[in-house]
Amino acid sequence: MTRPMPDVDTMKQVNRQFITGVTVVTTMDGDVPRGLAVNAFSSISLEPPTVMVCVQHTSSTHDALFRASHLAINILSVEQLDVVARFASKSSDKFAALDWTPGPHGGAPLLPGSSAQMEVEIRERLRASTHSVFICRVLHADVTDTAPMIYSAGEFFDSNHLRPLG
Ligand SMILES: Cc1cc2nc3c(=O)[nH]c(=O)nc-3n(C[C@H](O)[C@H](O)[C@H](O)COP(=O)(O)O)c2cc1C
Repeated sequence: MTRPMPDVDTMKQVNRQFITGVTVVTTMDGDVPRGLAVNAFSSISLEPPTVMVCVQHTSSTHDALFRASHLAINILSVEQLDVVARFASKSSDKFAALDWTPGPHGGAPLLPGSSAQMEVEIRERLRASTHSVFICRVLHADVTDTAPMIYSAGEFFDSNHLRPLG
């Protein structure tokens, strides 16, 4: 007998129990900078430096990411709440009046004020039902002293105020 799969509400509740940071994944679409907020980011390996991000097909940025050779992954800091709002929106010009610099390899937009930034080369594009998974080799990485933003159950938190359990 087949058992029913967990429903969407249950899976939402499961996901709310998993705490992440927030990234902004960017690329150049010709000469137009594009990007969106993504928390489906993970490191895969350190050697070679490999990471992944997962983007829904309904995102207006998806096809530009799928065509791209390079992406930037900006790990947002506690000072970038306005940046999350901008890149989680459907605005047609998320980069208006925003400071950014082109990555050194493929020109993907790096956002100053981020906690850390990478420019990556896409090595695999996997279509997984409603999303695409991008497996990427890290070509350039920068880390700052600014603490990362925390995302938990739909809210954003300051990682400067964490209490160790041990
Ligand atoms: C904290 C946060 C995390 C998100 N994570 C993802 C994600 O991992 N993958 C994704 O496809 N969308 C994610 N989104 C949703 C997109 O950022 C949102 O749908 C955005 O409007 C897409 O913009 P676009 O259609 O212009 O690409 C996230 C949004 C927020 C606020």
